[in-house]
Amino acid sequence: MAGIYIKTPEQIEGIRKASKLAAEVLDYIEPFVKPGISTGELDKLCHEFITDHNAVPAPLNYAPHGSTPYPKATCISLNEVVCHGIPNFNKKLKKGDALNIDITVILDGYYGDTSRMFFAGEPSIMAKRLARITYQCMWLGIQEVKPGNHFGDIGYVIQHFAENAGYSVVREFCGHGVGIEFHEEPQVLHYGRRGTGEEIKPGMIFTIEPMINAGKRAITQLNDGWTIRTKDRSLSAQWEHTILVTDTGYEILTVSPNMPVPPKFITEGK
Ligand code: MF3
Ligand code: CO
Ligand code: CO
Repeated sequence: MAGIYIKTPEQIEGIRKASKLAAEVLDYIEPFVKPGISTGELDKLCHEFITDHNAVPAPLNYAPHGSTPYPKATCISLNEVVCHGIPNFNKKLKKGDALNIDITVILDGYYGDTSRMFFAGEPSIMAKRLARITYQCMWLGIQEVKPGNHFGDIGYVIQHFAENAGYSVVREFCGHGVGIEFHEEPQVLHYGRRGTGEEIKPGMIFTIEPMINAGKRAITQLNDGWTIRTKDRSLSAQWEHTILVTDTGYEILTVSPNMPVPPKFITEGK
């Protein structure tokens, strides 16, 4: 791959539409997330919604560099699962479960990628705090998105905030350029140092998707070849948006009517 794409206005319009649809899938699935439903059923509902809107779920049969093809339309990661949880009709949600649903759609050839946390019934104080801090991490990272800043600025603010809250940042997975392909350059690290990495430029489109663990940052992969969980079995949370760099800052592309509101420090200024 030859560097970071600067998207054309036509590509941006296509990626904007795909990103909106991905966010609308999450709006659609939210009322179904309740104790008793299986992750397989949630996946099936998302899959149908996506195809009903003339799009294709990008994860299905996705097989980067020799991995076994991903078998489902979505990733649903419960509790101590960090990411890439495979939906399963035998895995029913229990009261208090915290889960991430990650949706990537291909619409007219363009990709949009977003994920949110959900709870089945009332979660523990711990799970709620982890999801809230992780959400704030994502938004602190988003606030760094403007021409002239560097990708390291995003990683720095996320790592700083997460570790100050007593949590740890998963290092093995990161945000990524997105839109023309599923995973493009650059890798958007959720840790790092200010001023490092490539310069952020108008027309870039990438995700910010911090995975934050309540315990240590170490992870292990399950035998299914995909599911990643915390090694110490502590809770993990993640949120993801697809973001366009504008001339003055950013535009969130994965927007929808019921998307969670940004934290107060965004809407009221810091
Ligand atoms: N949507 C994930 C991301 O945010 C990637 C999932 S790859 C899959 O990058 F194959 F597991 F679906
Ligand atoms: Co994703
Ligand atoms: Co992503």
